[in-house]
Amino acid sequence: MKSHQSVRKEFLNFFEKRGHKIVPSSSLIPTDPSVLFTSAGMQQFKSHFLGEKSPYGKRVASCQKCLRTSDIESVGDDTHLTFFEMLGNFSFGDYFKKETIRYALEFLTKECGLPEEKLWFTYFKGDNKIPEDVESLKALIESGIHRGKIIGCGRKDNFWGPTGVSGPCGPTVEIHYQLFDKPCSRKEKCIPSCKCGRFVEIWNLVFNEYYQDENKNLKPLRQKGVDTGMGLERLIAVVNNKENIFETELFLPIIEVINLQSKEDYTQHKPAFRIIADHIKASVFLISEGIVPGKTEREYVLRRLLRRCIRYAKMIEADSNLLISVAEKVIEIYSSVYPELSRSKDKIFTVIQNEEEKFLKTIDRGLKEFEKIVQREKKIIRGEKAFYLYETFGFPLELIEEIAREKGLEVDKEGFFLAQKKHQEISRTGSSRKFGGVGIDLIDDQKEKEKVVRLHTATHLLHQALRSVLGKEVKQMGSDINPERLRFDFSFPRKLTAEEIEKVEKIVNEQIKKGLVVIRKEMSLEKALNIGALAFFRERYPERVSVYIIGEKDDSVGKAFSKEVCAGPHVNNTSELGIFRIIKEESCGAGVRRIKAVLE
Ligand code: SER
Repeated sequence: MKSHQSVRKEFLNFFEKRGHKIVPSSSLIPTDPSVLFTSAGMQQFKSHFLGEKSPYGKRVASCQKCLRTSDIESVGDDTHLTFFEMLGNFSFGDYFKKETIRYALEFLTKECGLPEEKLWFTYFKGDNKIPEDVESLKALIESGIHRGKIIGCGRKDNFWGPTGVSGPCGPTVEIHYQLFDKPCSRKEKCIPSCKCGRFVEIWNLVFNEYYQDENKNLKPLRQKGVDTGMGLERLIAVVNNKENIFETELFLPIIEVINLQSKEDYTQHKPAFRIIADHIKASVFLISEGIVPGKTEREYVLRRLLRRCIRYAKMIEADSNLLISVAEKVIEIYSSVYPELSRSKDKIFTVIQNEEEKFLKTIDRGLKEFEKIVQREKKIIRGEKAFYLYETFGFPLELIEEIAREKGLEVDKEGFFLAQKKHQEISRTGSSRKFGGVGIDLIDDQKEKEKVVRLHTATHLLHQALRSVLGKEVKQMGSDINPERLRFDFSFPRKLTAEEIEKVEKIVNEQIKKGLVVIRKEMSLEKALNIGALAFFRERYPERVSVYIIGEKDDSVGKAFSKEVCAGPHVNNTSELGIFRIIKEESCGAGVRRIKAVLE
């Protein structure tokens, strides 16, 4: 048995020995504005494929945390997951197809001991726009692979990228592992594309040689690159001769927890057990990165994952504490590799528990309402009915669709979005005086404008003070300023103590008293992040950003009290602020706290 720790290590050592720099996994929250989550190892290196110099050199390797929502419907089968780890080696204008194929074969057969006869390969056979990848075909044949095990496929299967709307892309070689020898009833047609379960794709070798722009035009890349991705869970399964990923040590202990804490049995309810195991794992990692469930984008994905689990936990008649027990097991499995999970344990449990409490309040009534709607609606659930389930009972749209499907119905999604839009228009009133980067121009009165600017600078001081007192897990979740007060929402799992509030106030007032200067500097987003500027909601920032630095007159940037990516405006000196006072600290959703404060 090879442990998951040793498989990761062997992969990285193998490539380190071959001149690759080992780079740690980047966050699940990417800097690339065109994607919600990091979904591949190459994401953090995207710019190096386009020619920007890599600080790590031309050869790197990593084991990257990834999240893909595109496969969510397939979770429950033997191979798909939302959260997984991707092992990858990368070349930015260094080695290309031949060496990549050689490394991959050597690693799989020599290092992992997989029999070569169980490996199959697919490559790009060309189409009317892009020629056949003869170089890869030749390299495979020269490596001694039997021609019958090399299958040519089209663009859908063997051409990768770009991630997001534009970027590097190119033909691929996919390596598939044959789990059992006997072909299915399709006989000689039982090749890697066959859905019978005989094959599992383990490694994708991408050869970036094109750039695709927003209009889907392809141009050859000046510098060719290699991006490979191998699913760690699948590799662990095949090297340990396990039937599927859920039989590995990354899942089996979780399945056992669910078995112990529910009335139903795994063998009868495999999809439900697997969905809970996968979705809670994904949620644990997302929460450890500061995401909390909510109504938009990433927050919504987390809500969707958790609420889907809550429903499945009900279906298998699980104990009330199941999701927390599963989360605990996930943390136990991964904490030697991702120590941040243990550090965020309290936060992870609190967020899951809060979301569970919230949804459990409405789920039963919602399901009853659902039944009534199903009786009446026959084939299609009308948009406004679906929106009613969403808005009143907190059912994510995808969950409504899933339940409807189980009952043989469809949901009118267009009608849903129309109903949602109508609802938003009605509730969007009285917000014209909001300020938080936008909207100050709407304030006519000069005095009021000045008050807002002062409160804005105070918000930066507060943000930094909160991080100094409570730690780096404090992340800005929202900000709203009017001439009377500031309001600041941030991720934190519990109520602040009176001492903590006092400490935060004191730190802010000390900075005000010191008369720190506020300077604006323009730089690239990358540089801003390098100097440690706070930049949450990074994905919304342009390439060049303005950074507000608050520090002593001759402080170096590194020493300054606060650095934050921000559009301004701010005061010139903190002595203009007056006395800072927190007037309220309260919860504002699962894992999010809200502070209201004034300047006197
Ligand atoms: N980017 C490719 C993938 O995600 C290979 O790493 O499959």
